[in-house]
Amino acid sequence: MSKLEIIDLHVAVTADGVQQEILSGVNLTINSGEVHAIMGPNGTGKSTLSETIMGNPNYQVTGGDIRLNGRSILNMQVDERARAGLFLAMQYPPAIAGITNAEFIRAAVNSRRSADQQVGVMNFLPELDKRLHQLEMPEDMAERYLNAGFSGGEKKKNEILQMLMIQPAFSILDEIDSGLDIDALRIVAAGVNSMRGPKHASLIITHYQRLLNYIVPDVVHVMKGGVIVESGGPELAKELEQTGYEHLGAE
Ligand SMILES: Nc1ncnc2c1ncn2[C@@H]1O[C@H](COP(=O)(O)OP(=O)(O)OP(=O)(O)O)[C@@H](O)[C@H]1O
Ligand SMILES: [Mg+2]
Repeated sequence: MSKLEIIDLHVAVTADGVQQEILSGVNLTINSGEVHAIMGPNGTGKSTLSETIMGNPNYQVTGGDIRLNGRSILNMQVDERARAGLFLAMQYPPAIAGITNAEFIRAAVNSRRSADQQVGVMNFLPELDKRLHQLEMPEDMAERYLNAGFSGGEKKKNEILQMLMIQPAFSILDEIDSGLDIDALRIVAAGVNSMRGPKHASLIITHYQRLLNYIVPDVVHVMKGGVIVESGGPELAKELEQTGYEHLGAE
């Protein structure tokens, strides 16, 4: 059983030489087997939290801690965090010309495995085909350059493809539903649900309650002004649909 703990986390970014605090004391504990959702207004720090958990160096931790199974991961680089089981589906996945999607995903899978567990092309490609089929993605997506010219929805599906291939212990899914058509939303949600189980946990950032009809979370948190101002069950997301965020928090 694994546990990810965010403890009184303070995070700042530096823009034009000025340091600005974005997260002002976030507390959150996610155990394997659980699905947590974070909702909240634009610009409130949701992506900042996900990038900080993954170790993006643009985000400076100025206080608090992030612990995986009781051990601080703050000194670990992105690749070490990935090997420790963390995975982030980015809100804005970057395109990389010159490396194919298949090459990228195989490298991502192998970078998380020990030298004697590396997956060769012959074993990798049938599994990739299976996952492409599961997500109803065309087979040629494997041979295209990573995210280059992918539509918004294709990029999102591709993040889920990576998650299914990597089989991480903790998945952070930042607006995985943005830009998805109605059918794609259902397919992506089914992909996420297929990861559910005692060995996996996820943190799902979304603006839309609709996604949470498909992926029913155990806990819903509301982030506002860089802190979590409310937590509850799936009914909280439904309430927010009616009430908005105005009445929550100190802002
Ligand atoms: N690298 C950065 N440089 C400067 N400011 C940043 C940086 N990253 C985030 N910010 C600022 O931090 C605040 C929080 O941004 P963040 O992307 O975490 O919000 P969010 O809650 O994910 O919003 P959205 O719902 O729109 O995706 C914003 O005001 C943003 O402009
Ligand atoms: Mg965001």
